[in-house]
Amino acid sequence: MCLSLRHMERVSGLGVGPLAAGTVGLLILLKVIQRLRHKQSVQDKVVVITGASSGLGKECARVFHAAGARLILCGRDQKRLQEVVEELGNKNSVIQTYTPCTVTFDLSNTSVVSSAAEEILKCHGHVDVLINNAGISYRGNILDTHVSVQRDVMETNYFGPVALTQAILPSMVDRRTGHIVVISSVQGKISIPYRSAYSASKHATQAYFDCLRAEVERLGLQVSVISPGYIRTNLSINAVTGDGSKYGVMDKTTARGSDPVDVARAVLKAVCHKQKDVVLAGLLPTAAIYLRTLWPALYFRLMASRAIKEHRVKEE
Ligand SMILES: NC(=O)c1ccc[n+]([C@@H]2O[C@H](COP(=O)([O-])OP(=O)(O)OC[C@H]3O[C@@H](n4cnc5c(N)ncnc54)[C@H](OP(=O)(O)O)[C@@H]3O)[C@@H](O)[C@H]2O)c1
Repeated sequence: MCLSLRHMERVSGLGVGPLAAGTVGLLILLKVIQRLRHKQSVQDKVVVITGASSGLGKECARVFHAAGARLILCGRDQKRLQEVVEELGNKNSVIQTYTPCTVTFDLSNTSVVSSAAEEILKCHGHVDVLINNAGISYRGNILDTHVSVQRDVMETNYFGPVALTQAILPSMVDRRTGHIVVISSVQGKISIPYRSAYSASKHATQAYFDCLRAEVERLGLQVSVISPGYIRTNLSINAVTGDGSKYGVMDKTTARGSDPVDVARAVLKAVCHKQKDVVLAGLLPTAAIYLRTLWPALYFRLMASRAIKEHRVKEE
């Protein structure tokens, strides 16, 4: 090994150190060029982000704003959205950035979604990218969960994004351009115990947007489904329980999750590269997705053991 390194040094006339430094420099340069290209591809584009007041939505707002997108931030709380706008306004940027617009509405109330979509379209006359990010989680045992809670989670995570997408879609079809993104979850691909309402809503989301992708491709539109594993946000704190009350706990899994900045960057990359389906998870959840398809009997056994373990912990 030493001999061959010395031989390389003699042949090239260079030391290994400068060679390694040169390679690292080149990789950094490539990364910078890639970031610049990502930024250019959303520069001046009209990007709608739901759930922009916190967590992943807020980070997406930061990342797309820095890339020069014209943002329309949505949420239920105008004050919190305004705080995000002010925070973004204070950043120095080398590229042209825009002050975001805000539109306030409750996604779980589908009767207000079409008027919210009209308001969104009035901001800049069109939408280039719609990021359906808003969502709510759930923790509970099916036996103790009211059907109304199953329905409420479905309204926010499934019917809300569906209603908003369908309200914006005709204007994208007219312009023969547009990109619809939905933030699903690894739990949209596999189900784990005590997450029924959440997992069901994300499975439905995956199914709907897979259909949409196929139907609108011929019209020049793109659809990306992003399925992250745990992200370090307040999702578990804001989750609802079986009786509809707030869970209010930062789960260890969530606290140890990915940095929302990294996930937001992956969302930008998915838009720039027109990626259709992106799983952002570690080895174990990714393996579990394959296991569910290739060896379901083992997957079911593992989930049943997990349910017993979690039940015991709760009992203690
Ligand atoms: N954190 C994770 O571990 C994780 C993992 C995979 C996928 N995800 C997905 O990532 C997305 C973002 O969640 P997050 O982790 O950033 O959680 P978060 O911090 O709790 O943010 C959720 C956002 O959704 C908005 N929202 C909730 N209910 C709404 C409603 N009825 N109408 C309008 N907006 C509503 C909230 O806005 P207001 O409360 O201000 O209205 C908030 O901005 C969700 O779709 C979630 O399922 C999260």
